[in-house]
Amino acid sequence: MKRIKMYKLFERVWHWSQSMLILFLAVTGFEVHNSISIFGFEKAVQFHRIASYLFLILIAFAIFWHFTTDEWRQYIPTFKNLKAQIRYYGYGMFKNEPHPVHKTRWQKLNPLQILTYLGFKVLIVPVMVVSGLLYLFHKTINANNVVIIQNFSLESIALWHTFGAFILVAFVIVHVYMTTTGNTATSNIKAMITGYEEIEDEHKPKESKKVEEVK
Ligand code: HEM
Repeated sequence: MKRIKMYKLFERVWHWSQSMLILFLAVTGFEVHNSISIFGFEKAVQFHRIASYLFLILIAFAIFWHFTTDEWRQYIPTFKNLKAQIRYYGYGMFKNEPHPVHKTRWQKLNPLQILTYLGFKVLIVPVMVVSGLLYLFHKTINANNVVIIQNFSLESIALWHTFGAFILVAFVIVHVYMTTTGNTATSNIKAMITGYEEIEDEHKPKESKKVEEVK
C-alpha cells in the first residue's frame, strides 16, 4: 500500500460545500413543498433562493475546474469491468473479495461510479437547475411570452423540480452508504477530508494513462 494525494483542495472544498448545499436545499425545498416544518414557509423560500444562487456559483467554478485540470476525463464512461463491479457490490464485498478495479490518481472512479456520477452531473443537476430557474423566473418568462417555454405551467415545473429532488435525495443516501465500501468503512470519507488515500501499488491498470503521485 502507498499513500498518495488523491483529492486536491478545490475538489474537497467543492465536494463538501456541494453536499451541504444539496442537503440545505432539500430541507428548505421540502419545507416549501409543505412536507416538513422547520424555518417557516417565508424563511424557507428565502433560504432556498439564497442557497440556490450559491449552488449555481459553485457549479460554475466546478465546471471551470474540471475542464482546466483535465479531471473531466475521469468521467468518460466505460463498460469494462462494469459487471465485475456490480457483482462486487452485490456479493464480493460481503465475502471480503478484492476490489475488481484498482484505484489510481487518474482512475479514481470504478465503472459504476463513473456512470452514476456522470448521470448526476449531466442529468440530475441540470434538471434541478433548469426547473429551479424556470420556477424562479416563471413570472418574467410568462410576461415576456417566451415561445419555447410559455406552455410550461408552474405546476409542471414544480413537479419536475420535486421529482429531481427525490432522485437527488436517493442519490445522496446511496452515495453515503457506498462511501463505506472502501478499504475500511471510513477510509473514503477520511480521504475526501485530508486529500490523502492509501492505495495498492501493485497491479497498475494497463489503460491508466497518467499516474501522478503528489508526495
Ligand atoms: C440551482 C438550483 C435550484 C434552484 C434555482 C431552485 C429554485 C427553486 C424555486 C424558485 C423554488 C420555489 C420556491 C421559491 O419560490 O423560492 C424551489 C422549490 C423547491 N426546491 Fe429548489 N432550487 C434548486 C435546487 C434544489 C435542490 C438541489 C433541491 C433538493 C435537493 C430542491 C428542492 C426543492 C423542492 C422540494 C421544492 C418545492 C417544490 C414545490 O413543491 O413547489 N431545489 N426551488
